[in-house]
Amino acid sequence: MNLLLENVKSAKHYGDISPFIDLLYREAYDVLTDGYPVVELGMREGGSTAAFLIANWQAWQVEGTNGIVFSIDHDRKALPMTENYHREIGLPDKLHVGWISLWGNSLEIAVGWKTEIGLLFIDSDQRYEHTLQELQAWAPNVTRTILLHDTETLGPERNWGVKRAVEEYVTTNPGYWQVEYLPEGCGLAVMRRK
Ligand SMILES: C[S@@+](CC[C@H](N)C(=O)[O-])C[C@H]1O[C@@H](n2cnc3c(N)ncnc32)[C@H](O)[C@@H]1O
Repeated sequence: MNLLLENVKSAKHYGDISPFIDLLYREAYDVLTDGYPVVELGMREGGSTAAFLIANWQAWQVEGTNGIVFSIDHDRKALPMTENYHREIGLPDKLHVGWISLWGNSLEIAVGWKTEIGLLFIDSDQRYEHTLQELQAWAPNVTRTILLHDTETLGPERNWGVKRAVEEYVTTNPGYWQVEYLPEGCGLAVMRRK
């Protein structure tokens, strides 16, 4: 199983997410074995998706859980692209068990969402306003952890949108979240429920 994670980390097209693949895997495994689903906003090539699906498969095998991973993308090409890349890195089709791919806008899908979420991974638009809206729409459903990719690279030209959105969200919702920033690669924000 770890060989599969190594394949994900070394695949060229997953370059910017590779520093965090192990963390994504561990965080997903923990919540899935506790019976909570993983939701990711932004799937495209499916690097993060691969880490979540490996965690889910292992949780099914080792712990006997029936976990679910939801991947949301508004681009119709994201699903075939992800399936192709997963084949390319040798991810067996059986690892797609418990995987639900939803085509649509993350903000629209959030409306009426009722299921509690263990881990929310945000890697979609990266602009300040959009990321803030995603946090406002999704965070109330999250029982444990939110990970947001791209806190570093988008820099001045996009005004560090993800980081600003996290700061704004935790300031306006005080007392609920503990935040840490990991500067490797494109950067990751880790928000944990207090
Ligand atoms: C950076 S890519 C995701 C990469 C993926 N997480 C990985 O590790 O390979 C961003 C994706 O977010 C999607 N996206 C952007 N805004 C969105 C929105 N509002 N709703 C759904 N998907 C969105 C884009 O279509 C794109 O496929």
